[in-house]
Amino acid sequence: RMFGRDKIQIKTPAQIRHMRQAGLVVADIHDALKAAIAPGVTTAQLDELSARAIEKGKAKSNFLGYYGYPATVCTSVNEEIVHGIPGQRVLQDGDLLSCDCGAYVEADGVQWHGDAAFTAVVGNYASETDKYLDRTTERALWAAIAALAEAGASGWKDARINLIGDAVESVVFDAAQETGHELGIVEEYVGHGIGTKMHMAPDVLNYSVSSKGVKLQPGMVLAIEPMITAGRASNETLDDEWTVVTRDGSRAAHWEHTVALTPKGVWVLTARDGGAAGLEPFGFAPTPLSA
Ligand code: MF3
Ligand code: CO
Repeated sequence: RMFGRDKIQIKTPAQIRHMRQAGLVVADIHDALKAAIAPGVTTAQLDELSARAIEKGKAKSNFLGYYGYPATVCTSVNEEIVHGIPGQRVLQDGDLLSCDCGAYVEADGVQWHGDAAFTAVVGNYASETDKYLDRTTERALWAAIAALAEAGASGWKDARINLIGDAVESVVFDAAQETGHELGIVEEYVGHGIGTKMHMAPDVLNYSVSSKGVKLQPGMVLAIEPMITAGRASNETLDDEWTVVTRDGSRAAHWEHTVALTPKGVWVLTARDGGAAGLEPFGFAPTPLSA
């Protein structure tokens, strides 16, 4: 994916409020999926629930038909990292399932997109490794969002996009120091700008690079989405041309939110509480735009 060369879309407050609408529909999809995930459920059933939630929210799916993608949600199980296609697969106790989905609303003939992912253990048996992998990936996402909140609190002075990759990498590194279990950061798939399309400039890397990257400013909206593996990060795509799996068979987790940069901080558009609970452990609070 290469969106890095395009100009970054800066949204007005009114446009960010349209994106919040889309984000809340994505939150509705997540709630419907979380309530349904259990042993015995098929991934196709999850797709049906997702489609229904999108319809109920008077929104449309941005996944369905995207380069021919056949569903409204990606369901990636165990060693599948991203882009798993829902089907007749029956979820089992102890599976590690990532659900990635999105929706857009239309306003004045323009699309406004939301995109978010979560990972969950199916049923009651969760291995220590899965819990560690899932917790660390979710923490990496929120550490990145918190780093943005901190930069926003200083008026975005000198803030550049690689603070996200730095935050993700340092969470994964610190976790390895503490536990001795080194996790893999997937590099081939990255986060992205989002707005009138689902995938826009800039690329949002999940690892540190020597060039700090583009300057951040209010009005940007970023989809941040670390993908982390319990083993090596090396991956390949299956014959269905979508499902990305680890080469070593290790399991993977994926967490994502759509995050608006506001004048003094962030507003997590795909979190119902705007990011309050996720930011709280880092000592930050969301700074939503008022109506
Ligand atoms: N949500 C994925 C991403 O986060 C994109 C999925 S593309 C689809 O960027 F075709 F699978 F929908
Ligand atoms: Co995304």
